[in-house]
Amino acid sequence: MNSRRSFLKQISGAAFAAAAAPSILAWALPQGQSVEFPGEDGMILRSFRFVDLESPVEYFNTWLTPVPHFFVRNHMHEPSELDAHDWRLSLGGEVDKPLTLSLADLSKIETHSVVNTLECAGNGRSLHRHQVPGIQWGKGAVGTARFSGPRLGDVLQRAGVKPTGKHVMFRGLDEVPGKVPPFIRSIPIEKALDADTLIATHMNGFPLTKHHGFPARALVPGWIGAASCKWLTEIKVLEAEFVGNFMSPAYRLPNQPVQPGDAVKPEDTHPVTALNVKSVIAGPADGSSLSAGKVSVHGAAWAGEADIARVEISTDAGATWNPAKLRQEQAHYAWRLWTYDWKPGKSGDYTILSRATDSQGRTQPSAPVWNPSGYLYNAVDQVKIHVS
Ligand code: MTE
Repeated sequence: MNSRRSFLKQISGAAFAAAAAPSILAWALPQGQSVEFPGEDGMILRSFRFVDLESPVEYFNTWLTPVPHFFVRNHMHEPSELDAHDWRLSLGGEVDKPLTLSLADLSKIETHSVVNTLECAGNGRSLHRHQVPGIQWGKGAVGTARFSGPRLGDVLQRAGVKPTGKHVMFRGLDEVPGKVPPFIRSIPIEKALDADTLIATHMNGFPLTKHHGFPARALVPGWIGAASCKWLTEIKVLEAEFVGNFMSPAYRLPNQPVQPGDAVKPEDTHPVTALNVKSVIAGPADGSSLSAGKVSVHGAAWAGEADIARVEISTDAGATWNPAKLRQEQAHYAWRLWTYDWKPGKSGDYTILSRATDSQGRTQPSAPVWNPSGYLYNAVDQVKIHVS
């Protein structure tokens, strides 16, 4: 993997390139916002081989997640050589006019911003009682950021999608070790043409960092993080869904509920797309001891393409529920932060639960729905605390 110093050199290259393209003049290093070594800045290192970083849940206290606190999920090595000058994005397949775009070309296309909660499909996998293989994420493979860049639809329109174009494939520049299949996935044309689906170049107002897909990534809002391909190098319009490891067998769910040990035929599965309704308690911390007095129970709730309708809190292990207050900041694909002011009546042990319901009428289940890859875990969240 490339050293951080040489990556900074490349970023400086990006800043230099910006001088030639006025609309990316604002590019600058996010000063004081870089994770120097994986695992620093309080992030939980889930894998060092391919950088996988989880946010501790106590970081879920700002509506926009600062970039150094945003989880990182890599299936393989990040690209070592990424020169902003030389980088090109090709767009071909079922189009009238194939295109090759530079970063400067992208910067000339109207920019759109979307505040999106990005969650890994495997977030919460470790919480399944029957363990499943894969990165053992706790609760923090999720974050919210303002992503900006041209709309994918505007770029597709320039190329002219043929009537035969039904799916849009993304290829990343990951460095593929050994026999690992390359990270290539596709989304249906309807989602690709959605006005909020982007070729994102910026995150929270700064150029994407290397961990998050510099210089450009897909941003498919409301869908599992895997849909949002990083380090984009190729977009191809296809007649059918892309066939490859990261479309099948990966990122699929059984059509019917299954139990551990059940055989699931590939034809009885479908791709995972939009996120579930879910809430997580950011504080008080699980296992903490508090002195009697006011307690602010707080956290975040999100629902993919739906909106959060309400969050309810139970401080008596689910016997009774009370509404939490949703904080003001909101955007269609973004989480809502929530708070619940609680005054424990007496000292003792308490189990606090949070349960979200969304605009589609979906409510978090009290027990997780198991599947062989542990995707979309969304059971009611809980912390156990002691009040003295
Ligand atoms: N894109 C490429 N090229 N390679 C990857 O490994 N991981 C995907 C997605 N895009 C991945 C990728 C997955 S599984 C997730 S959850 C998100 O990126 C994570 O985005 P982040 O690392 O910016 O948080």
